[in-house]
Amino acid sequence: MGPELNLPVGYHEPVSISNSNIESAWISEFLASRRSTRDFLPTEVPADLLHQILADSLTAPSWSNTRPFKVAVATGEVRDRISADFLDRWQALSEIMEPGWRNKLRLLRNRRGLPAKNRSTAKSYVPELKPRAQRVGKELYEFVGVNRDDKQARDAQWAKNYSFFGAPVELFIFIHKSLHVYAASDAGLMMQNLIMSAHARGLGTCAQGSVNIWENVVRSEFEVSKDYRMICGIALGYPSKAKVNQFQAHRIDVSEMLLPPLKVKPE
Ligand SMILES: Cc1cc2nc3c(=O)[nH]c(=O)nc-3n(C[C@H](O)[C@H](O)[C@H](O)COP(=O)(O)O)c2cc1C
Repeated sequence: MGPELNLPVGYHEPVSISNSNIESAWISEFLASRRSTRDFLPTEVPADLLHQILADSLTAPSWSNTRPFKVAVATGEVRDRISADFLDRWQALSEIMEPGWRNKLRLLRNRRGLPAKNRSTAKSYVPELKPRAQRVGKELYEFVGVNRDDKQARDAQWAKNYSFFGAPVELFIFIHKSLHVYAASDAGLMMQNLIMSAHARGLGTCAQGSVNIWENVVRSEFEVSKDYRMICGIALGYPSKAKVNQFQAHRIDVSEMLLPPLKVKPE
């Protein structure tokens, strides 16, 4: 019998493991029990806990062990200033996106809400992937009672991204441009470790591509070299009991991920 590992209990489903009974099923259950958190309690995350989660993120594999990423940790006043700036820009952007020529004129006058960076994140999805994105959007909005035709309600829901859903910590993930997709892949592995470490400790997370368009705001608070670009934010904190945190996004089947073998082999 090995010693009890005594891991803290995760939020969604209690998970208990000991060295003696780590079964293959445990990891599947634990991974499946993580869901994005979109409503946080204001409870602070203790600094040593945050440090542990960040340390856990660095046990992920990495391209030649280069760890081609940096993390900006926004808490307290810095977090609040960034959020206030994002919300202000979002307000301007959502007005511009209203139909009608008057709103397009506003765009010429007030460029504040326009994406300053990483515009590709605001592009529409290619036909192969669009139905999946549409499905999760539709199901999430239905789940929280937001009518898809009610632009105001939709915008209000989206705006929550810019208050980081109330999370006391927002992480901004930057990758070294020189390693291109491999840096993004490394950052993804690091983030998943971070997210699962947080989950094991009863914390919730939500990855946020929505913050990418205003990278300049983050750069106004942290020293970031030109060699790096932002790829994602992560809201981190203790989940509330709000209904939105019970949302279960659809999972595709393994068969949808697998490539079929070539029918005709090349000579
Ligand atoms: C890189 C990345 C960016 C994301 N950006 C956002 C975002 O801006 N806002 C949001 O509410 N969810 C965001 N998500 C969460 C996804 O919508 C979510 O992971 C997906 O629907 C699956 O649901 P689950 O995380 O609950 O399993 C993002 C996820 C990833 C991996």
